[in-house]
Amino acid sequence: MSSVKSPKNEFHRLPTSVVPEHYSLQLQPNLVSFEFIGQETIEVQIKETSSSILLNAVDLSINSADWPPLEPSKGSLKISFTGVLNDKLKGFYRSKYVGSCGEDKFNAVTHFEPTSARACFPCWDEPAIRATFDVTLIVPRYKTALSNMPIKKETILSSSLMEYQFERTPKMSTYLVAFVVGAFEFVEGQTSDGTLCRVYTPMGKKKQGRFALDVAVRVLPYYKRYFGVPYTLPKVDLIAIADFAIGAMENWGLVTYRETCLLVDEQETSALNRQWVALVVGHELAHQWFGNLVALEWWTHLWLKEGYASFVEFLCVNELFPEFDIWTQFVTDIRIPALELDALENSHPIEVPVGHPSEIGEIFDTISYRKGASIIRMLHDYLGIDAFKQGMHLYLTRFQYRNAATEDLWQALADSSKKPVDEVMSTWTKQMGFPLISVSSEQQGNNRVISMIQEKFSASPRDTATENYHWLVPLTFSSSENPNKAVQGILMKEKSATFTISNVDENQWVKVNPGAVGFYRVSYSSEMLAQLIPAIKSKSLPALDRLNIVDDIFALVRAGKTSTAELLQLLEAFVNEDNYSVWTSIDNIIEKLALLFDNVDSLENLKAYGRRLYSRVETIVGWDSKENESHSDALLRSLVLSRMIAFDNKKTIQKGKARFESIRGVTNNIPADLRDVVYKAALCQAEEATFKSLLEMYKKADIQEEKERIACAMGSVKDSNILKQILEFAISDQVRNQDSVYVMIPTSKTKLGRDLLWTFMKDRVQLIRERYLGGNMASRLIKSALENFASSAKATEIEKFFAENPLPGTERNVQQACECIRLNEAWLARDYPQTKTLLASIKSSNS
Ligand code: BES
Ligand code: ZN
Repeated sequence: MSSVKSPKNEFHRLPTSVVPEHYSLQLQPNLVSFEFIGQETIEVQIKETSSSILLNAVDLSINSADWPPLEPSKGSLKISFTGVLNDKLKGFYRSKYVGSCGEDKFNAVTHFEPTSARACFPCWDEPAIRATFDVTLIVPRYKTALSNMPIKKETILSSSLMEYQFERTPKMSTYLVAFVVGAFEFVEGQTSDGTLCRVYTPMGKKKQGRFALDVAVRVLPYYKRYFGVPYTLPKVDLIAIADFAIGAMENWGLVTYRETCLLVDEQETSALNRQWVALVVGHELAHQWFGNLVALEWWTHLWLKEGYASFVEFLCVNELFPEFDIWTQFVTDIRIPALELDALENSHPIEVPVGHPSEIGEIFDTISYRKGASIIRMLHDYLGIDAFKQGMHLYLTRFQYRNAATEDLWQALADSSKKPVDEVMSTWTKQMGFPLISVSSEQQGNNRVISMIQEKFSASPRDTATENYHWLVPLTFSSSENPNKAVQGILMKEKSATFTISNVDENQWVKVNPGAVGFYRVSYSSEMLAQLIPAIKSKSLPALDRLNIVDDIFALVRAGKTSTAELLQLLEAFVNEDNYSVWTSIDNIIEKLALLFDNVDSLENLKAYGRRLYSRVETIVGWDSKENESHSDALLRSLVLSRMIAFDNKKTIQKGKARFESIRGVTNNIPADLRDVVYKAALCQAEEATFKSLLEMYKKADIQEEKERIACAMGSVKDSNILKQILEFAISDQVRNQDSVYVMIPTSKTKLGRDLLWTFMKDRVQLIRERYLGGNMASRLIKSALENFASSAKATEIEKFFAENPLPGTERNVQQACECIRLNEAWLARDYPQTKTLLASIKSSNS
């Protein structure tokens, strides 16, 4: 088993001979000149005598630094400095909005995680070096000024300046400090136990903060009950920031959000986005305990807070909105993407040694978040709800106001459950990848004996470096005796194991990994699979198990362990399917097949196959929402109609276009849940005029969500001239820097668009570097835009290009994209001839 090595570059850790205890920090941002003036006094403790004090600062001009010793072991460091409110969406930066006379105006906001507090004030910028903060902001009068704590005192300094002093913070990490200065309004409420909650929005939009506020005031008491630990600050503010690099940031007491992750408009917000807001609010508020109250020892443990929060947001949304059926969606949105990425040779272990800021930035990825969340879900199931909850309480009370490492959580959970948590979990966090469990079974009287073998699952049929891997796998089973009940099985410790299930006769099916709780894939013997297929057709197998089977088989197809033709036959078993998450999984499969076949000449036949596959469910969902339909049914409609449009279904496109015509010129009365579909229909065969009218709609849209929807639909365009215009539009001043990447990525969904986008990226690599260096947007662009090519020559070209034009922090994503490209080529070489024949014969038998 590979183990965690020490960071490449120990140099990046500060010495601990002198450490801060308290910062008194005063900042005066100028919203017109973009300069800020800062002054701080840091009380430090001297642990060992040394001749110098080393702390972090970047992009600041230091005007003076003075040092009075206070007593032998204490001193105070006074620094005055200036900086610039930058436009790079990190540190202390400016965010644009349009003023009442149409003029550009700016707010000042911070984003520090992981290493940008040092760009706002000189500090010991490491998560384990905690201190208290007294913050003072000097700001123009009549502006809102916010920080982590409530205002303690306000003073009018002049006719144009105000000074706000904030209460002292608890001992906290620097990356959680936050300031916002600007024009906002708010709605407020209180939790049942008296914590003041406010949701701040841009002026004129406070109504759109209502939903998040309702969620927040219910989430805080939920976590208090769940953790058995109260929220410890007197208030929490949630604020929507117009220019924001990521989704949201959990600053203690002042959580910042991208507008689309916080604002909900009763008319314009879709069911999917409303659900998303609930999840993001649940995620960031979970960090107030897990991440803030107990922070990380070092960034190697980043996954712990991010994986954990990405798990617990589902627990909490499930409690608040049981009608969302959110746990089922966990499997398609969190678990499956994690498995797909983690099957690559260029994946990485959850725990990685990191030192340099670009290495730290790179691990805010699907492995830390989604694999992290998935293995915690598996652990939650293995330990049981009560032991897990007790362990959380132990962990949070043991380490509150301090820092912890992964092992500390394992210890607390071991104490509460009496199970070997560290031994089990380190096999999942310290080695990359996950096992493939191959199962076969034998009938013995009234019992079924299941035999299992584990080996590392690899997306590449040629991967030979899999031998030294081995996991401790909590295995569970279900059978037709009671399809909804998981039989707690065994902890598989060796390469092979057997397990006997009693009271199962030879005609009954047995399923491994019910609920898709385990982070592994299963390969069934043909007999076991044959027994499961009728249970898929009749839907006597629960939804998660139906999707789990088809998704595992798809992974086996991509890994060359079974054929695409076989998969297409299996999909026939889903004729009666009506579950949203199962369709999401099928949709993932069919989309990836389409992306693959777009590289050769079989896309038309695949589309025909897809139209047939979706035709029944299309009739069921229809175009109009039904009275009292479920949340999932609303989501299913958009999924199905979008795919039918992507697969050129004439009737669907016609209907969508007709609806689009109905909004031209007048107010948009298309229900929010249907708009993406309608825009895609309008754009998929677009001429210039239609495209222009959507561009106009983008520019005029008053809410971000609508802009995102239009941008996403632009991916349906198939005309190269218009595609080129979309790419230019993406980097024009009509699109915020935070959104450019999300306008570009959808164009890569066709071979034509992908070629154009890659050329565009090469031409604009300098712009990409300037705008996005140090964030994870460039990584996202590279991976999504390029991974669907299918020729090794292209992979070589991409590697060569980024070797000559490096974008630090994107290296792993470049490698992952190139690995996917080579795997695609091999997949086509293996399966293309047979699949082509099959698709052609299906087509002719249906025409
Ligand atoms: N702590 C992160 C914010 C973050 C992300 C900082 C990347 C630096 C780099 C925050 O809690 C988070 O995870 N935000 C997510 C949204 C969440 C709902 C998954 C994000 O911004 O993508
Ligand atoms: Zn997070």
